[in-house]
This record gives sequence, structure tokens and C-alpha cells, in this order.
Amino acid sequence: MTGLVVAMDGPSGSGKSSASRGVARALGLRYLDTGAQYRAMTWWMLKQGVDLTDPEAVAARCGEAEIVSGTDPDAPSIHVGGTDVSGPIREDEVTGVVSAVAAVPEVRARLVALQREIIGAGGIVVEGRDIGTVVAPAAPVKIFLTASPEARALRRSAELAGTTAEAQVAALARRDTLDSTRKTDPLSMAAGAVELDTTALNLEEVIAEVLRLVKERT
Ligand code: DC
Repeated sequence: MTGLVVAMDGPSGSGKSSASRGVARALGLRYLDTGAQYRAMTWWMLKQGVDLTDPEAVAARCGEAEIVSGTDPDAPSIHVGGTDVSGPIREDEVTGVVSAVAAVPEVRARLVALQREIIGAGGIVVEGRDIGTVVAPAAPVKIFLTASPEARALRRSAELAGTTAEAQVAALARRDTLDSTRKTDPLSMAAGAVELDTTALNLEEVIAEVLRLVKERT
């Protein structure tokens, strides 16, 4: 398992994070949440007062953010310039604008390079949108998680108190469109990926299915 890379892609609310952490834990692998890195970059840009509607301004500054990801599946962490941002990156202020930052090619180039550095010789489960297509296309196990829009929204509104399922469906649909239609590395299923629809599955069932696929492919 030491050199193994498991690529876990899919839209928000498909259950990627919990499943990826569970798989990493079960196999004794590291875990990398690449969405947290795009969120951390966005948090830093907001703090710096960068105009996020201006891709050139975002591109010009993205090299300055020092992003450090901790890869323990039991306690994943994310720091920018030494500040722990695990809490703030989940707030609406960041969630509402992260897709715009993630669409800037220079941001993607910088974070993809960082992700490849962290992946190194492998032994890791990596979750995101472009892991199987761009970051680690040679990964022996690539999973594309999906779920119905209603199931995804329900999972999100259970996580975020104070939002209704309807508001979540609308917000997720907006983010999906932005993430799937951007020019650089849009969300799409990689060649050789296995699609796993998690709508009717609980977390244990999703983890068991991924572990079965890992066994089959390694
Ligand atoms: O998985 P998440 O919701 O934390 O991701 C936050 C945003 O980052 C989301 O809008 C898509 C983007 N993202 C991306 O473009 N590429 C990745 N590998 C991971 C996330």
C-alpha cells in the first residue's frame, strides 16, 4: 500500500471527504483534501483584499500564499502563512466565492504542483475535482463519486445549521455549474475511473465499496 494513490473526485456533497478519510484510515494511508487548499487560497485572497472578480489580480498574488496541508486522516489540518484556517475556510464567505478563485489557471498550476509534491511517492488518498484527470492520472484507483442533488443538499444542510435543503440545492447547482464549465481542468470523470453513486449508500457502505475496488485493482 505504501506507493498507492487513490484518486477520489466528484461534486460537493457526494460524500468524498468522509469516504476518503475512512479509506485512508482503513488502509493506513495519508489523506489530502485539495478542496481545502482552494478554500485556503480564497481565504488568504479575501484577507489581502484582492478583488476576486479580477482573475489577473488573483493570478498576480497567488504565488504569495504559503499553504501547508497536514495529511493525517484522523486530524487533517490546513494552514496559510502559519495561521490555522480549518474553521474559516468552511464559512459562507469563502464557500460563496471559492469557485471563482479555483477557475484561475495560475492558481490551479500552483496548487497542482503543491499537490504533486505532497503525493510524492504515494501512500495517499487524494480528494478533489481533477485528481484522476490532472493531478495524478496514473493513480491505479480512481473513483468518481456522485449522488442525487437532493441527497447532496441534505448532507450539506445537515452539516450547516440554518440553511434549508432548497437553498442548498440552489447553491450546489450554482457551484457545480461553475466547477464543471470552467476552462481549466473542469470537474469531469477520468478515463479508467469507476463511478460510484452514493445516493442510497451509507458511509460504511461507500468505504467498503472503495476498499473492494482498491483490493481488485492493486
Ligand atoms: O471540495 P470543496 O467543496 O471543499 O471544494 C472547494 C472548491 O474548490 C470547489 O468550488 C471546487 C474547487 N476544487 C477544484 O477546483 N479542484 C479540486 N481539486 C478541489 C476543489
